[in-house]
Amino acid sequence: MQVFPRISAFRAARKKLPADARIGLVPTMGALHRGHASLVKKSVAENDFTIVSIFVNPTQFGPNEDFEQYPRDLDKDLALLDELGVDMVFTPSTTEIYPETSHFYFEIHQLADRLCGRSRPGHMNGVVQVVSILFHLCEPTHAYFGLKDYQQCRIIEHLIRELHFPLKLVPCSIVREADGLAFSSRNVYLSAGQRRDALFLYHTLRQLKKNFAQFQTVDELQAFVQAQLPRYPLVKLDYFEVLHGKTLQPLTELHNGEHVHAFLAAFLGQTRLIDNMRLDK
Ligand code: PAF
Repeated sequence: MQVFPRISAFRAARKKLPADARIGLVPTMGALHRGHASLVKKSVAENDFTIVSIFVNPTQFGPNEDFEQYPRDLDKDLALLDELGVDMVFTPSTTEIYPETSHFYFEIHQLADRLCGRSRPGHMNGVVQVVSILFHLCEPTHAYFGLKDYQQCRIIEHLIRELHFPLKLVPCSIVREADGLAFSSRNVYLSAGQRRDALFLYHTLRQLKKNFAQFQTVDELQAFVQAQLPRYPLVKLDYFEVLHGKTLQPLTELHNGEHVHAFLAAFLGQTRLIDNMRLDK
C-alpha cells in the first residue's frame, strides 16, 4: 500500500495505473470504523485498484462545529487500510487541497433545502466542493459512499450526472453496532449515558417502519417521534423529516406506493448524530 500526502506524487502514481483498470475510490475523513471498512471491502472486491482518501475537509464544517476536535488517528487508519488490501491512500494537508481561499461556491438547488443542508448551512457546498476535487484528482471509475449520509449520496448522484464525471456512484448500506446504533466517527465523543440515549435514533426509526401502516399523515409520524423523546432525556432533536426518498421533497400522501424515507438528526450534548430509514419497504 502506498501513502501519498502530496498531490503531485499521487497524480503521477495514479497516471501509471492501466487506462482500462476499474478503480474504486472511498473518500473519507479518517477515524475509520466498521462502516468505512464495509465500503473499502466492497471496493477492493469489485475493482482492480482501490484508492482511499483521508482528508478532514474544513469547508464542510460550520464556524461552531467540530472541525478542530474531529477525531484523527492516521496510523491506526493506515494499518486498517493496509489489512483490507487498499492500493493507494491519499492523505493531503489542507493547504495542499486549498492553496488559496476559494473563489467558487456551489449553489445546490432543492436537494440541500432540507435535512442537514438546512441545519448545517454551507455544509453540502463544502462536501460537493471537496468531492469534485477528489474526483478530479483520483479519477475513479467507481466511488463508494455510505447511505447513513443519505442526502449527501443523493446530491453526489446529481453532481456526477450533471457535471458529467465519468464514474459510477456505489451507495452502500448503513452498518450498525449490535444494538442498532449506526457507526459514526462521532460516536467516540459519547459518554456512557449519551451512548444509551443515542439509541433514540435507531429505536424510533425502527418503530416507525414497523408500524408504518398505522400512520396516515406526516403529522402523525411527527407526533410519534415527539412522544418518544421523554424516554431519552439526553437527546435534543435537531430534525425529523419524512420525504420522498428520490427527490427529497415533502410527501402529501404516505401510502400511494412512493418511496417514503424518514430522517432523524439529534444532539447528545455537543455531538450531532444522524440516521435514516426507508419506511414503506
Ligand atoms: O462522508 C464523509 O465522510 C465526507 O462528507 C466526505 C464524503 C469524505 C467528504 O469530505
